[in-house]
Amino acid sequence: MSNIRILYSQEEIQKRVKELGEEITRAYTGKVPHLVCILRGAVIFLSDLIRYINLPLTIDFMAVSSYGRGTKSSGVVKIIKDLDESIENRDVLIVEDIIDTGLTLEHLTKIFKARNPRDLKVCVLLDKEARRVVNINVDFVGFKVPDEFIIGYGLDYNGLYRNLPFLGILDNLEFGGESFEKTV
Ligand code: IMP
Ligand code: MG
Repeated sequence: MSNIRILYSQEEIQKRVKELGEEITRAYTGKVPHLVCILRGAVIFLSDLIRYINLPLTIDFMAVSSYGRGTKSSGVVKIIKDLDESIENRDVLIVEDIIDTGLTLEHLTKIFKARNPRDLKVCVLLDKEARRVVNINVDFVGFKVPDEFIIGYGLDYNGLYRNLPFLGILDNLEFGGESFEKTV
């Protein structure tokens, strides 16, 4: 049986997301940041975050899936839905739910850089630092989290739990086999 332990409450998340919004507001003063939400995990985070950014801004969405074996991500990122708008000459901020191995973001930043944005920065709600396998610079981080499987506030396990208003740790994971598709 799976068991959920609360990691951050709804109130703690809102407080931190508000601080992040203020940090981003200061960093982009005089600019019009273009926020790119990585579907589907970051959708709740993006929708809260933009309401704490006191600047003109635009948003776009990209859906990707990363494939892994066991709990490891291979870093092979498949674009399921590409951006609607060009990012050339724009101040792009990638908004992602969690950085784990870093392979997904490494691959994504390569794809983005090839499209010639004026500037490219990365904002993640959660950083699972202990699992990093590549060196990648993250500009804005909500919370550093332990090496546990986290669900809620947009993050899923097999598509479920995204609607939980808090962030929780899911214990007793059953991955059901060698290989699974990580839902991003
Ligand atoms: P990475 O390529 O290993 O950094 O994996 C990043 C992606 O895996 C994120 O976009 C998440 O969607 C997913 N992921 C990694 N860790 C977790 C977790 O603890 N809970 C839910 N999703 C996770
Ligand atoms: Mg996910």
